[in-house]
Amino acid sequence: MAKNPKHRQSFRHEVLIIGGGAAGLSLALRLAHHARIAVIAKGPEDSGSTYYAQGGISAVLRSDDSFESHIADTLNAGADLCDEEAVRFTIEHGPENIQWLADLGVPFTADKYKNGTKSYHLTREGGHSHRRVIHAADATGKAMETTLHNHVTHYDNIEVFENHIAVDLITGTKLGLGHDRCIGAYVLNKEKDRVETFQARFVILASGGASKVYLYTSNPDGSTGDGIAMAWRAGCRVANMEFNQFHPTCLFHPEAKSFLLTEALRGEGGLLKLPNGERFMDRFDARGELAPRDIVARAIDYEMKRLGVECLYLDISHKSAAFIRSHFPTIYAKCLEYGIDITKQPVPVVPAAHYTCGGVMVDLHGRTDIERLYAIGETTFTGLHGANRMASNSLLECLVFAQAAAKDIISQLKEPHDWDDIKNWDESRVTNSDEEVVVSHNWEELRRFMWDYVGIVRTDNRLKRAKSRVDLLLSEIDEYYGNFRITNDLIELRNLAVVADLIIRCAMQRKESRGLHYTLDYPEIDTTKPPENTVLTPEINLGK
Ligand code: FAD
Ligand code: SIN
Repeated sequence: MAKNPKHRQSFRHEVLIIGGGAAGLSLALRLAHHARIAVIAKGPEDSGSTYYAQGGISAVLRSDDSFESHIADTLNAGADLCDEEAVRFTIEHGPENIQWLADLGVPFTADKYKNGTKSYHLTREGGHSHRRVIHAADATGKAMETTLHNHVTHYDNIEVFENHIAVDLITGTKLGLGHDRCIGAYVLNKEKDRVETFQARFVILASGGASKVYLYTSNPDGSTGDGIAMAWRAGCRVANMEFNQFHPTCLFHPEAKSFLLTEALRGEGGLLKLPNGERFMDRFDARGELAPRDIVARAIDYEMKRLGVECLYLDISHKSAAFIRSHFPTIYAKCLEYGIDITKQPVPVVPAAHYTCGGVMVDLHGRTDIERLYAIGETTFTGLHGANRMASNSLLECLVFAQAAAKDIISQLKEPHDWDDIKNWDESRVTNSDEEVVVSHNWEELRRFMWDYVGIVRTDNRLKRAKSRVDLLLSEIDEYYGNFRITNDLIELRNLAVVADLIIRCAMQRKESRGLHYTLDYPEIDTTKPPENTVLTPEINLGK
């Protein structure tokens, strides 16, 4: 290894964390006193979904609430597919993780009605039978991400590599080393435009979700399912990819790039309306605007198609302007930028892809199928969400599984370790691409057919059409990938195509409608057999 870090092309750390969102940074901090750590991220703090989280984090924080109630609500939203052990594990570890964040200094909104005592305001969201969502006004994610990031930068033994995108995992199997452990990752340094080798004793995928696979999404550009695709190529099972959650209310405006309007707006009284001002949610569910997200998103989709309109409306203007401005300052300001004053008028809304409920299969320590490879956060399938994630349960999952993985890794750090020799990335057989348009064209095409054929409402025929298109794209991308030097866009496109294929295959296997998976060909839940997860097992494809 070269001594001068500026010229280093290979790095050794005890722990390599791929992802700098809530999951990755929480894990880095939990390990800070135990190991030398590299955190790599595609971009700065706002490159993951965490930064954009609005509503908050769910946890049992009041005596009139209970673990049993949070568990029951989560199981109910998950449409009989949640793993009850994972649900209990996550929820019971909630309060201590919230305390951990508060101790780090996350500025949670205080409860104005409990003057003098240290109590936090809790909001409500769909599916929750109690107020249990702790938040920092309507920008909880930004508060959390910046606090975690500030702490991480204080540790000399945590190195953060921004503008680095992991290309593929390195395993003993892949290199023919006689063991099948994960020993690092190849990473494209986007500033230096070269692939570097990151070797580690423990590798953790904390690289977020895959909602960018759809044309319209609330997610930032980097949510391209890289962790899921890398784990799949390395040999890990993935599950329940058909359950992609569509958030019912994103701002509809030609210049607003899928800006989210938090469910907490409805939790605090916001009403969904048709263009003529009529409410409609009661026709779909007795819980009205606070029914779980799958139901609300489908109702909006149904009404939009029935009326042939481009959007519906969310109206909170009946609440006082002072209340709206203090609880939702970010949303108020953002909408005003587009000429919409939410204290006075309804806001145009549409559903958009929001959250990947399935992912890399892990146990309660965050361990994947590959030794020394962990996964945490939205990249994973832990069993918590079942067929539909309940609002604000995902930041909680990031925290709890970061804590659990840290504990598991710490218990093994003292074991003796021999480092393997790893070959550097070989670029001798590739050239610079002269047809970048292939990447941008395929990117557009993929996201559009996923939206049209594998969106909120599916059919067997639509899935078949999507499958034949994704097969074509996969082989075209594979050929391109084998011949040309890699770029950020090519890496992401390759991963998006893998994820799209996994979603379609899972959706084709599920011959029923359950939670987020709704198909006109099987519009009911299949009651003839016990509910099952959709598990896909890879034939290991060693990639490049
Ligand atoms: P992310 O926060 O998405 O971070 C992923 C990280 O991985 C980033 O640093 C990215 O740069 C990096 N990365 C990705 N691929 C690579 C690669 N190949 N190489 C290197 N680095 C890589 N959930 C709630 O519980 N409550 C909410 O109120 C809430 N509101 C939301 C609002 C919005 C608009 C969105 C989009 C989501 C919201 N969610 C909410 C969901 C929640 O924010 C996410 O599930 C959660 O933040 C995911 O955290 P994460 O750490 O797993 O991934
Ligand atoms: C929101 O604030 O509506 C998003 C909450 C979530 O996705 O959990």
